[in-house]
Amino acid sequence: MSTLVVGGAGYIGAHVVRLLADRGDDVLVVDDLSTGVGHRVGAAGLVELDIAAPDAQERLELVLREREIDSVIHFAAKKQVGESVERPVWYYRQNVGGLVNLLGAMESTGVTRMIFSSSAAVYGQPDVDIVTEGVTPQPINPYGETKLVGEWLMADCARSWGLRWSALRYFNVAGSGWPELGDPAVLNLVPMVFDRLADGRRPAIFGDDYPTPDGTCIRDYIHVLDLAHAHLAALDGLDGEPGENVFNVGTGTGASVREVIDTIGEVSGLDVTADIEPRRPGDPPRLVASPDRIRDHLGWKAGHGLSDIVRSAWEAWQAGPRRI
Ligand code: UFG
Repeated sequence: MSTLVVGGAGYIGAHVVRLLADRGDDVLVVDDLSTGVGHRVGAAGLVELDIAAPDAQERLELVLREREIDSVIHFAAKKQVGESVERPVWYYRQNVGGLVNLLGAMESTGVTRMIFSSSAAVYGQPDVDIVTEGVTPQPINPYGETKLVGEWLMADCARSWGLRWSALRYFNVAGSGWPELGDPAVLNLVPMVFDRLADGRRPAIFGDDYPTPDGTCIRDYIHVLDLAHAHLAALDGLDGEPGENVFNVGTGTGASVREVIDTIGEVSGLDVTADIEPRRPGDPPRLVASPDRIRDHLGWKAGHGLSDIVRSAWEAWQAGPRRI
């Protein structure tokens, strides 16, 4: 099997590349290195290519043909919610346009297997304690919209030319499987707390007056290594009977912002006294996955909890360029 990992030099993609290589799969990475880092792909080959560029479909066709690719795992996308609100056209061009080029190349070269990075952002602000895949998606920002459009397009391709696909709707990804793959360098809670502590500042809590037990927002934090394993399960699952296509990837357990920050304090021994700052627009008070479908259909279950996530993130942080 030859698998193309598009966006394989990124934080999550690189974990999947490592797992695939470790089990002996033939892996090739396409990445434009805009946020990815070349050394993360290890011994896998790397083709530098922006999948949203005007000539991308032709270039992707060449790669798929020459390397005899039979499966694609697609991570390459923009993922900052706030940025997507400021630059919606760019987000659609990168995330939807890039996917169109990739699927176009797959259709014309007969590559029919695809795993797609989707997001809990497709749900928007669901008014339920536990989010199942049956909850109607209602994204509230362009980022979430591009992920939902991606799922729709793949469903259309399945009907039209037999694409076999799964979309994984990630909840809150954090931690590190290997310290050198660690730092996601995005504006998410765990890296932001470390960033602030490194600068001698206090962690920030964006709002402590939400309708939750301690007043801070609750999320379902998933270890990046567990998430990476979910991709292998999804890839292998494409060989089975056609079934469900979209899967939540979470643990089913929520943790509040305050609990996460307290865990960072326990693991690192640092003073994590936080400043309460204003709410961030668009934050749902609670977003926790039902992980039942992926367990039942693909046999996948998270193996790590919050303290494992924080401990691995802390180790990666200490190994990285910005030590505390
Ligand atoms: N938060 C803080 N302080 C910080 C950073 C974050 O209090 O310094 C809070 C946020 O307000 C939120 C929670 O921590 O309540 C989690 O925030 P993140 O930015 O880590 O994650 P989000 O839940 O906002 O977003 C994540 C991904 C998105 C994805 C979404 C889907 O980053 O790409 O999950 O649920 F769309």
